[in-house]
Parts: sequence; structure tokens; C-alpha cells
Amino acid sequence: MAESFYLSATDKAGRYAELLPQIEALLQAETDLVANLANVAAVLKEAFGFFWVGFYEVKAGVLVLGPFQGPLACTRIPLGKGVCGTAWAEKRTQLVPDVDAFPGHIACSSASRSEIVVPIFEKNREVRLVLDVDSDQLNDFDADDQRYLEELAQLITRLCL
Ligand code: SME
Repeated sequence: MAESFYLSATDKAGRYAELLPQIEALLQAETDLVANLANVAAVLKEAFGFFWVGFYEVKAGVLVLGPFQGPLACTRIPLGKGVCGTAWAEKRTQLVPDVDAFPGHIACSSASRSEIVVPIFEKNREVRLVLDVDSDQLNDFDADDQRYLEELAQLITRLCL
């Protein structure tokens, strides 16, 4: 297995485009879900310097904290609560430019200012995981993040779930 990844692009979209095939190779080389999610969180944090990046998994009707990189986080999020619980309930990506303007946002850290949460589906289309990426800057995510993180979510569905 590769123990490092290669990035030459300096723009965000270019870095995502370089990264995704390398993440695909990483996921193809390992069958354990936790090991794969842990490495994906590490790679995203290192490549983009996000404040917090990690996964929550649907377990017995609640989102439970999974592999992540960043500060201490909330461990359980109910359906429809916060940005993560909304992405789960609505089965679609939530792009939040200002977390203070999002009704019911769960402030695990007061430093988090904007975020994007992408649902990851089982092959039967039920939500199994959400990918949560947080920034300490306002308005830090855009359509490029959404496009590539949704592509990453599809990779995880295809290769890990
Ligand atoms: N911000 C999230 C909670 C999870 S943490 O930020 C790690 C939310 O409102 O769903």
C-alpha cells in the first residue's frame, strides 16, 4: 500500500482531482471500513488543512462519531439535528457558509464557522455514513468541494459498503 500521496496542483479543484484516484487505490487495497475511513480523514486533513474532517455512522437510529482528524467532537447526533443530522434526514449534501445562520447547528467547537456534510449511501440507498468537513473560516466551501466530496462518497459506497 502507498504510504504517502502525491499532490502537485496548487488550486483546490486540481488537488481534489489528483487525490481521488489515489484514494481509490487506497480503498481498493484494504477491506476494513474503519481503517479506510481513518485514512480518508487523514488524507483530506493533510491535503487541505481542514479544521475538522471525519465520519459519523448510522448505528441503531443515531449518528455515532467515527474516524476523524481534528479536535474533540460530539459523539451522537439524532436524525434531523444539526448539519449532520439534516444531511442524513434529507439524504443530500448540506453546504453551510455560516454555521451561526443554520438553524439547530450543533457547535462541537466554537471555532467552526462553515461546513459541508455529504451523505454516504449503502448500495440500497439508505444513508450509512456522513462525511463532515468543518472550517474555521466563514464561507470556505463551494461547488468544487461539493462535487469532489460527493464523488468521494460514491467511491466509498462502491468500494467499502
Ligand atoms: N457541526 C456538526 C456537528 C459535528 S461537529 O462539527 C464535528 C453539525 O451541526 O452537525
